[in-house]
Amino acid sequence: MSLKIVPPSLDYEASYSAASYEHIELNDDIMWNPEISSTSFADYVAFLLRYETNPPAGHVPGTFYWLIVDDDTYAGEMNIRHYLNDSLKRLGGHIGYKVRPSQRRKGYGKMLCAHGIQAVRKLGVTDILITCNDDNIGSQKIIEANGGILKDKVDNNRGVLTRRYWIYG
Ligand SMILES: CC(C)(COP(=O)(O)OP(=O)(O)OC[C@H]1O[C@@H](n2cnc3c(N)ncnc32)[C@H](O)[C@@H]1OP(=O)(O)O)[C@@H](O)C(=O)NCCC(=O)NCCS
Repeated sequence: MSLKIVPPSLDYEASYSAASYEHIELNDDIMWNPEISSTSFADYVAFLLRYETNPPAGHVPGTFYWLIVDDDTYAGEMNIRHYLNDSLKRLGGHIGYKVRPSQRRKGYGKMLCAHGIQAVRKLGVTDILITCNDDNIGSQKIIEANGGILKDKVDNNRGVLTRRYWIYG
């Protein structure tokens, strides 16, 4: 089995689309829906790649990475925010990650988070904020396994508290 972490790419359209349907089944948040999104896959990939230098208004620059197993299977993704604005300081943090439902519980979440920490460090950030919902046991384990220290929990007005963990440099 091979694993690689790559920038978003048109090469993985079929697999990414199949993963999107798995996420839709579980009501996961997704950024591109093959059924209802008005943008094509090519435009979506271009949008993700542009984020690094030309993010949408009000957003900070971000870099997206996809996890590919066995050469062509999209298995999950991670994105890093280059610095924190007020909203990211409160809820979003420096790193987001998501594993495709059929690829969960294989350690990929932990691996993506570790990769994200390294990528943020390379930008010169010393203290890294990672957040997750208070009821997201998988994500809590991932952050704690990567050295996260729980600092506090804040109300995000969505009925569940947001845990804020810091990884100190
Ligand atoms: C949370 C998520 C990233 C976990 O990904 P994953 O690849 O299954 O995680 P891992 O295999 O690395 O598991 C890490 C640990 O969490 C545990 N775990 C994973 N999912 C779990 C769950 N639903 N309930 C309880 N424990 C869980 C694993 O058993 C493992 O425990 P261990 O360290 O004791 O062995 C994945 O479920 C997901 O993408 N969820 C939707 C998006 C999301 O919540 N993203 C995080 C936002 S902060």
